[in-house]
Amino acid sequence: MKKPIVILGPMESESALLIRHPENRTSQKIGAFTYYEGTVNGYPVVVCRTYIGVVNSAAATALAIQRYDPLCVIIQGTSGAHDPALHQGDIILGERIVHLGRFFTPHRDRGTGADAFQWEPQGSEIVSLDPEDFTSVLYSDSRILAIAQTVPNKNGRVIRGCIGAADIWNRELDMIAHLRRVLGTDCEEMEGFGVAQICALFGVPMADIRVISNSEWHPQEEFNEKFGEQCQMFVLQVVRRLIAEKTLL
Ligand code: 5AD
Repeated sequence: MKKPIVILGPMESESALLIRHPENRTSQKIGAFTYYEGTVNGYPVVVCRTYIGVVNSAAATALAIQRYDPLCVIIQGTSGAHDPALHQGDIILGERIVHLGRFFTPHRDRGTGADAFQWEPQGSEIVSLDPEDFTSVLYSDSRILAIAQTVPNKNGRVIRGCIGAADIWNRELDMIAHLRRVLGTDCEEMEGFGVAQICALFGVPMADIRVISNSEWHPQEEFNEKFGEQCQMFVLQVVRRLIAEKTLL
């Protein structure tokens, strides 16, 4: 039995095209998640809509790993720019993936307010990676990213970078600049770290591939669902090349 490639997308606009795509499609429901099994160029793939957020995507990933023993997991979808030089349509390959919602705050007395700029970023307890210390940064598989870099993107650039994830949509530019300064993020979304953490726990190669769908730096660049479709089409090309070149096999 060949190990399938699992592809995940959070929203309808970030998964419908990929779900429709595989040949000889069947589906299997596990709890709230539906896994669409089929083939691309004769190779098994499984596509799943995770729904929004770190917890949903982590659960969808754990169930997929348990059920399918995948060759790799690809999480993809839209994201907001932290780097002012990025624009809608650019593709970010998540060389590094960091958590944007894991902080330890200094004590402040009642009545003295809050200051998120003083919060200290924390690592994550990923026991199979680092039993002594907490891990702050996770990585997409370099072989998948090398293949992804060969895929043309007619809507923008393809760059390697750092993707931040948490259950938050930041629109405050001072906060966006701060997160970029302390964590090195190029863009943000709400699932990548959940998928990366579960894949790290189980030793499964993964990649986070995102399109920029919005940027607070450029007011006219508001969120638009069409970018979700663009990312799916890009990822489909990545998957075709992974299969054709037998990467990871
Ligand atoms: N901040 C957070 N999440 C974003 N998404 C797109 N842009 C942003 C942003 N600026 C994605 C998330 C989630 C959905 C709401 O859109 O990954 O799935």
